[in-house]
Amino acid sequence: MKVLVTGGLGFIGSHTVVDLLNEGYEVVIVDNLVNSKEDVLSKIKKITNKDVTFYKIDLCLKEDLRKIFEKEKIDSVIHFAGLKAVGESVEKPLMYYENNLISTINLLELMQEYGVYKIVFSSSATVYGNPKSLPIYEDFPLSTTNPYGTTKLMIENILTDLYKSDNKFDITILRYFNPIGAHKSGLLGEDPNGIPNNLMPYIVRVATSKLPVLNVFGNDYNTVDGTGVRDYIHVCDLSYGHVLALKNKKTGLKIYNLGTGKGTSVLELVKRFESVNHVKINYQITKRREGDIDSCYASNEKAVRELGFNPKYTLDDMCLDSYNFIKNNN
Ligand code: NAD
Ligand code: UFG
Repeated sequence: MKVLVTGGLGFIGSHTVVDLLNEGYEVVIVDNLVNSKEDVLSKIKKITNKDVTFYKIDLCLKEDLRKIFEKEKIDSVIHFAGLKAVGESVEKPLMYYENNLISTINLLELMQEYGVYKIVFSSSATVYGNPKSLPIYEDFPLSTTNPYGTTKLMIENILTDLYKSDNKFDITILRYFNPIGAHKSGLLGEDPNGIPNNLMPYIVRVATSKLPVLNVFGNDYNTVDGTGVRDYIHVCDLSYGHVLALKNKKTGLKIYNLGTGKGTSVLELVKRFESVNHVKINYQITKRREGDIDSCYASNEKAVRELGFNPKYTLDDMCLDSYNFIKNNN
């Protein structure tokens, strides 16, 4: 079984490639390295002791991508490739629409042309906008507040229309909540360029003294301690969800939330991080970040029931592993 993994050198993709190799799948990675580094490949090989094929290709260049479909006998696709920074998408919407949509349309056209019908797509909890209640179920109304989120929702719509037109397609849409943590080996993890937008990458920079202080965006939300609540999930639990999606016997168009179902506030996360890693995180309360919501956490019941999804890592594991990765890579 040969799986094409687009964006397979990125944060979630690289962890998923490790799982796929460990499960005996053959893996072909396509990534243009716009947000990843080629040395991830040797780290994947070191962890798994298995071979993986890599092509440095931009999915927006359809004829380049076609060569992979010609050369490799692909059985299924996991599509991670995409740009994902919310703030950047507001500043450069055309770049986001072009990259995320053209790449996906090229991929889907080639899949149809070459008779590859099984795809797992990386969507996001961002498509729920400001949820009407909690926890969030898959059938909640969808809306977005930024171009990045809109690309995810547009791709979900494209996949839905494609399935209606050609029900040979077997499509799984996975809506991720907040992936953090890193591989236990300390070899794979997330270390964004520049000043991080997301909470955990920011916390680890403060822990390693790369940044002086964490800005906590508001403490007047309607939550346990006034700070924003999110559903943090260990990247290794999230990555294994993709293996389960490939193995799922149910065909057709399926949508699953991948989260733990537990909400954690910013300050709760900071406290756990300090406690398990024995390090002090300087923080200050600042004003709310535009577009943020009070709370966001999943119902993962459908994924548990239909995929056998069973997140096993704790918040402590997430804090330990995120810090371990950064200490190993600085
Ligand atoms: P990432 O940036 O680490 O990985 C994405 C990979 O795609 C990178 O290696 C990048 O180089 C590659 N890529 C981007 N555009 C490409 C193109 N045109 N051609 C080829 N390769 C391209 O991001 P991640 O955190 O691993 O996220 C993976 C997917 O999950 C993304 O689609 C993202 O939007 C989605 N997602 C992420 C989160 C999160 O918090 N990390 C949450 C919800 C959804
Ligand atoms: N936060 C801070 N300070 C920071 C960064 C974040 O207080 O420096 C707070 C935010 O206000 C929020 C929480 O920490 O309450 C989490 O923020 P993140 O930026 O880490 O995550 P978001 O939930 O805002 O968004 C992330 C991704 C989105 C994705 C969403 C759901 O950035 O792309 O998770 O998957 F859509």
